[in-house]
Amino acid sequence: MSGFILAIDQGTTSSRAIVFDAERRIVGVGQKEFRQIFPRDGWVEHDPEDIWDSVVWSIRKALSEAGLEARAIAAIGITNQRETVVMWDRESGKPVHNAIVWQDRRTADLCAELRNAGHEEIFTARTGLLLDPYFSGTKVRWLLDNVEGVRARAETGQILFGTVDSFLIWRLTGGQRHVTDATNAARTLMFDIGENRWDEELLGLLDVPAAILPEVKDCADDFGMTDESLFGAAIPILGVAGDQHAAVIGQACFEPGMVKSTYGTGCFAVLNTGKDRVRSQNRLLTTIAYRLDGETSFALEGSIFVAGAAVQWIRDGLKLVKHASETGPLAQSADPSQNVYMVPAFVGLGAPWWDAEARGAIYGLTRNSGPAEIAKAALEAVCYQTRDLLEAMRKDWAGHDGNTVLRVDGGMVASDWTMQFLADVLDAPVDRPTILETTALGAAWLAGMKAGVWPGMAEFAKGWSRDRRFEPEMDAETRARKVAGWDDSVRRTLSV
Ligand code: G3P
Repeated sequence: MSGFILAIDQGTTSSRAIVFDAERRIVGVGQKEFRQIFPRDGWVEHDPEDIWDSVVWSIRKALSEAGLEARAIAAIGITNQRETVVMWDRESGKPVHNAIVWQDRRTADLCAELRNAGHEEIFTARTGLLLDPYFSGTKVRWLLDNVEGVRARAETGQILFGTVDSFLIWRLTGGQRHVTDATNAARTLMFDIGENRWDEELLGLLDVPAAILPEVKDCADDFGMTDESLFGAAIPILGVAGDQHAAVIGQACFEPGMVKSTYGTGCFAVLNTGKDRVRSQNRLLTTIAYRLDGETSFALEGSIFVAGAAVQWIRDGLKLVKHASETGPLAQSADPSQNVYMVPAFVGLGAPWWDAEARGAIYGLTRNSGPAEIAKAALEAVCYQTRDLLEAMRKDWAGHDGNTVLRVDGGMVASDWTMQFLADVLDAPVDRPTILETTALGAAWLAGMKAGVWPGMAEFAKGWSRDRRFEPEMDAETRARKVAGWDDSVRRTLSV
């Protein structure tokens, strides 16, 4: 069998398909952005048909760029934006509503209600998550309560729920399989990550009928075959993981104590804690890093909602640059004597603050402040937020060995200036890998390993290589002063 693997990376703003050859080299890519729908302040939706069309288009494009027919592909691995909720009709396959995206805050009141009723503890104990609108559970409840006729049809099993992976698999298999993997299930607020099953008590509290839920499988597993009519051949889907979990795999963070941080729309830092299911004392999430052969490796995760999205805002909202890649050089030209801070709480603040009501702010503007200072503040904010997450991880993981090096990936890490500032504020080295497509690579490894055409974990990990290590260069006093300014800005932005 060939070693060609197709990875589908369905992200928040674009869908990508990447064909890797047996040596893990990229031989074909297809990428398509799709519409972001903002019906109200704090609401974010996607049309599932846009998602589907962009995925099919990207796959065809990647295959043609690779010069391959579908039958040359040994297996497909899927990775996806997590928590985003799709509900569709079992018969027609048609979505009942737009997808409610992970960034959407419409269920903040419902979360507060559940919290005030004293239910947060049970959700955290079983799912490792917090009662925040970020996660799927309350979004599912919103659709059941607000879209006419959906609840009644859900109760009789006519309506199905899935995160994006699950919806894609349903479509790719021509409606044959309603499945998901453990990492995606772990983000729903409905899945007990210790027992590895949907939790009836949590479903009861959320008022969600079990009939709508997909079957939960390992990350490397049989997820069905693609319908032949789509690409001209039936291809097995053998790997699935939420994008941050796939990045842990792609970065080969397989040992407890290893951390990766991915800079996409948001920023997500994940620390592999191995068999240890660490309960955070610092408002991080406990989650499943990956589940292989029925064995769960756990992780601590810090989630920041706005990273690349701040750069997108600089480009599209403020129109300060034409291309995102100009943001780094613009920031570099800023007046170093100014102390401008941006807290990009466009959709509230994630870890470790979890403040759904906070909104973005800029501090320290003077008559001399301009585009360069604002661009610099946006990039620095991502680094300060990463510092907040890693500080929380250090405390939660205290007592364990190891001097942690951070492995970074995602669009923003191409900027040397940003990565140097990150190492400076972290006061720790930052490693940038040679292959920056770590999320897709992680999904491809799951599928390729399951198909038996790619190497096992140890050999795959040996293949990880560094493009560059950024060592901290900032003096302690400057760092302390800058971090204090950031802490003060966050305090002023919090809603309570
Ligand atoms: O939890 C949301 C996350 O999975 C989205 O990732 O890469 O689309 O920003 P990304």
